[in-house]
Amino acid sequence: MIRLRIHPDAAAAAHDVAAVLRSTVVASPACVLGLPTGRTPIPVYAQIVEWVASGAMSLEDVTTFNLDEFVGLGPDAEGSFQAFMRHHLFGRVDRRPAPRNFLDGLALDLDLEAARFERAIDDAGGLDLVVLGLGTNGHIGFNEPASELPARTHVVSLTDETRVANADGFAGEVPRVPTRAITMGVGTILAAREVILLATGASKADAVAAACEGPLTTHVPASLLQLHPRVTVVLDAAAAARLSRA
Ligand code: GLP
Repeated sequence: MIRLRIHPDAAAAAHDVAAVLRSTVVASPACVLGLPTGRTPIPVYAQIVEWVASGAMSLEDVTTFNLDEFVGLGPDAEGSFQAFMRHHLFGRVDRRPAPRNFLDGLALDLDLEAARFERAIDDAGGLDLVVLGLGTNGHIGFNEPASELPARTHVVSLTDETRVANADGFAGEVPRVPTRAITMGVGTILAAREVILLATGASKADAVAAACEGPLTTHVPASLLQLHPRVTVVLDAAAAARLSRA
């Protein structure tokens, strides 16, 4: 069952998600979080950086797992999600080394890397809260629409639509966006105790409606979130525009 929270604008929606993260972390300082990249969560991370600076919260004891990474990119490569997280969050809040987990896009054996990541999540006690963005085609993490989806962390080929959407990290040059990625599976995400998805802007409106109100289908990976007992979808008015129950 998806709970919807609709805000007038993207800033209010991001503030809502940041506040959920803050209450989770304040209630449980050693919690385990799954975190997304993309343009949408940037204001969420900016708010958290502010709260950490003011002492309203701390990420020092929080374990984090990022959802996905491009294949072929190391931690310092332009466009890598690890570099993104350092730039927007970890480089600004971690005063001492904290357990930050990433998929290694340079791993020689990507299947072994996927298995290692799943084990690390298990060893951490599972994910308490996963924050998600949403692709315009309904993807979550990098689980692209397909007739079948591997449940757990795996390698994927990226659609052209997704490579175009990710060109920002590569100076707008689509050919430089890697063609493959490694991502938590939908099963990994559904195993989290709580899920919160943030989508803002009119370009997400169709995907939001399909995810929240459409049938369950691997062709809209986010629709599988309807199976989760504790999922909240946080939207601005533009992203909510195609919902019939909004
Ligand atoms: C990428 C990420 C997703 C993210 C999506 C949406 O494909 N792998 O996790 O949700 O982009 O990005 P944006 O927030 O920039 O629209």
